[in-house]
Amino acid sequence: MINSQLAAIRQDYLLASLTEEDTFDDPILQFQKWFQEAVNAGIDDVNALALATVDAHHKPHNRIVLLKGIEQEQFVFFTNYNSHKGNDIASNPNVALTFYWVELQRQIRIEGIATKLTVEASEAYFHSRPIESQLGAWASHQSEVLHHRHDLEKRFELLQKEYDGKKIPCPPHWGGYQVLPSVIEFWQGRASRMHDRIFYSKEIDSNWKRVRLNP
Ligand SMILES: Cc1cc2nc3c(=O)[nH]c(=O)nc-3n(C[C@H](O)[C@H](O)[C@H](O)COP(=O)(O)O)c2cc1C
Repeated sequence: MINSQLAAIRQDYLLASLTEEDTFDDPILQFQKWFQEAVNAGIDDVNALALATVDAHHKPHNRIVLLKGIEQEQFVFFTNYNSHKGNDIASNPNVALTFYWVELQRQIRIEGIATKLTVEASEAYFHSRPIESQLGAWASHQSEVLHHRHDLEKRFELLQKEYDGKKIPCPPHWGGYQVLPSVIEFWQGRASRMHDRIFYSKEIDSNWKRVRLNP
């Protein structure tokens, strides 16, 4: 049943097109334009992206994180440095980011190198978060086995008491990564699977090269 349903699902993409002339020479500007359009379209979790990493055994892993800024042409997200993704990045800084905005029939793919944000930048963002999120960063040993949810809740409650009325320090194992892109691709769905793909790659001279790819 499910297979016949899956085989029958067919979406045609008719909303828009993307030509070389429509795009900026600089893909960061193009990202900002599309991101603003996605915000204007009221898309839920508009800053959610699939983050792919590769571990020390060359196995890929993927999960959603939230984009929290673009600083000096680098894409910023925050996480636990001791998590699986943190360990992957420590052994291999190559990452890939994918946004998909179904309502706009648009995908953006980014490939690049992840490095840690400065402690100061991570701390500044940490302290801008709601208190509960700050406590959560201390309470959660992200990606480790949790035998009982109760243990996590207990840690959270104890931390709440410990830091009641006090400034919560940023955990040393928590912070941001910035991704310096070497590839950015913009995909606009079109009719009959004849999609538009505008692909930018960074040349050795640091200039961006733009080409159109087959769908
Ligand atoms: C919508 C959404 C947003 C998320 N945002 C983040 C985030 O910004 N940072 C983060 O560490 N995990 C985030 N997560 C959780 C991750 O997907 C993942 O479960 C967690 O980071 C552990 O991943 P890892 O074990 O591969 O390191 C988010 C999940 C979803 C569904």
